[in-house]
Amino acid sequence: MKTFVSFVILICLTCFLSISKSETCPFSQSLVSGASATYYTDPNAGNCGYENLMGPLGPGNLFIAALGPNLYNNGKNCGQCFNISSPYTNRSVVIMATDSCPDSGYCQRSSHFDLSTQAFDVLGAQSIGVLEGLTYYKVPCGVNGNVKIMMKDGSNDYWTAFLIYNSRVTIKEVSVKITGKTTYTSLSQSSYNYWISPNMVPGSFDVRIESVGGEFIYITIPKVESRKQYETSSQFSVDGCVGTPSGPSGGIGSPSTGSSIGTPSDASSLTLYALFSLTILFLVMLN
Ligand SMILES: *[C@@H]1O[C@H](CO)[C@@H](O)[C@H](O)[C@H]1NC(C)=O
Repeated sequence: MKTFVSFVILICLTCFLSISKSETCPFSQSLVSGASATYYTDPNAGNCGYENLMGPLGPGNLFIAALGPNLYNNGKNCGQCFNISSPYTNRSVVIMATDSCPDSGYCQRSSHFDLSTQAFDVLGAQSIGVLEGLTYYKVPCGVNGNVKIMMKDGSNDYWTAFLIYNSRVTIKEVSVKITGKTTYTSLSQSSYNYWISPNMVPGSFDVRIESVGGEFIYITIPKVESRKQYETSSQFSVDGCVGTPSGPSGGIGSPSTGSSIGTPSDASSLTLYALFSLTILFLVMLN
């Protein structure tokens, strides 16, 4: 009987862990209030390296923001999408972080977005200038297809840098393993969002891309080639995230209700945990 109970508990635990893992968003979606926004009119060629927003590296729309130093975090939030809500219009917009905003004014605030005019217009009139009292939370980007990678212009057999783009979530780490070697070397992320690989050799190598959620995507690249782009064979999972878009990221959200966003992943995890505890209690009583 004891063995049977242990067995059942083990099954329950495994089941609980696997379900809760697949339903946990890879980043925090807590609602932040007290944010502000301004707008700027030259959003192409931002600091995150995506160049022309409508080009092959860009998000394919103009719903973007430049982040102040706190949010930009040396490039770590490049490619992160945010759902921003406004009390001026009672509307929300989803934008992708594609640029940094270094000026000494509003951008120095902890939560400030310098928006494209297209994104700003959803949240308030340009005549207002600075929108205050905005709320936001992070959302996955609704990109099409798989994560992509490009080698920087000026790359050669001995030096390159990688841009990771078209990802639903931000990147935690990029590592390289030269073919024939056994270990991966992690690369450092530059503030312009390229991952610098200073120790290349002629020939092929593997790249390992780790998401902020700890998932890995691998790709083998035959050789270093300046500005060569590859699409990997997969995309990062965003199960459990609120506001997962189905199409390309960016655009106008449904009217904001003003209430805080739901957290179904937490709720279902709690339910599962309660069920699990009850099962154990029941089994212990039976015993
Ligand atoms: C936004 O919603 C609030 C609360 O429901 C309401 O008082 C306000 O008039 C609305 N503003 C607009 C511009 O619709």
